[in-house]
Amino acid sequence: MKSEEVSLTKWHEDEKVWWDKYGRYMSYQWKLTPSLNKILRADLESDYVEFLLNPTESLLDLGCGSGWLSLYFAERGMKVLGIDISQEQIDASNSLRDQGRLENLEFECCDLVNWNSVKHQERFDNVFVNAFLHHLPEVELEMMFHKIATVLKPGGKVYMYEPLRSSSGTRCIGVRMVDAISSRMMHLLLNLLPGWFDLFSDEYKTELKNGYQMSSPHEDPIDIELIKKFCSDSFEVIEMKGWHLFSLGFAMQSMALKESVRGTYAGLAALWFRIDTILLRMFDWQDFSQPHRFILCSVKLLRK
Ligand SMILES: C[S@@+](CC[C@H](N)C(=O)[O-])C[C@H]1O[C@@H](n2cnc3c(N)ncnc32)[C@H](O)[C@@H]1O
Repeated sequence: MKSEEVSLTKWHEDEKVWWDKYGRYMSYQWKLTPSLNKILRADLESDYVEFLLNPTESLLDLGCGSGWLSLYFAERGMKVLGIDISQEQIDASNSLRDQGRLENLEFECCDLVNWNSVKHQERFDNVFVNAFLHHLPEVELEMMFHKIATVLKPGGKVYMYEPLRSSSGTRCIGVRMVDAISSRMMHLLLNLLPGWFDLFSDEYKTELKNGYQMSSPHEDPIDIELIKKFCSDSFEVIEMKGWHLFSLGFAMQSMALKESVRGTYAGLAALWFRIDTILLRMFDWQDFSQPHRFILCSVKLLRK
């Protein structure tokens, strides 16, 4: 990450401004349509639900965004607190909570770097981190793991789903060929064709005019070695697993297209997900790693 290029205060200001301005559209792309979500995330959902869901327990959702995942656990009986830096995202979360009339669901708007975890010492049974940590500068990751360790009860569980990177992958010739072909296909299908045939939705075009890009200012995959290092004192690493190489990015970008072509692209996203699954059986996710490739992986931790 580029923490030395920008001050920490500016880093968080940039993220907050970006999420307040574009969070609504980004959440729309990130959540996908219900059918696309089912195709791409059903197995992932079963994995975190099996690990975290227990109606008698509590859950902290860090960087909860628009609150859809907090809501999922609260609707199934868990006592949930979701925290996010963006007021726009917390407003969206609160309206979800109000629609569901859930008293076991709370949201708080706060920069988690300044969050007073000591006040919540050993309060939670579970922590869920869905694509939040890679928005932090590397120098603050260690502190965030300390905070998670502080608020968890002994034996508590953490499920993270984050873009990771690794320097220990082989990047053999097969992987490099897959990479080269995939990036060209993605560019053709998601940039060139929609440009040539006017396939982008009007809303997306308006967002683009407004300065939108599909990444927030400082997000970047996290080095897996850092996670292992920062976890070593307080956590046992139970499992690390690669889930999405190209397919999730493809599906998100296809949300920017007109509805008339979305069905065709959903079919392609499903195909791409199958290819991801096969590749992740044939190779280790680390073999595909390059500094800025978003390889979305889960990490399961147990508080010692
Ligand atoms: C990719 S979104 C994920 C949102 C949600 N977990 C989900 O899966 O829909 C990342 C979220 O992290 C939040 N975020 C970024 N930096 C933060 C910080 N320092 N403190 C709290 N939230 C932060 C953003 O506002 C954004 O909502």
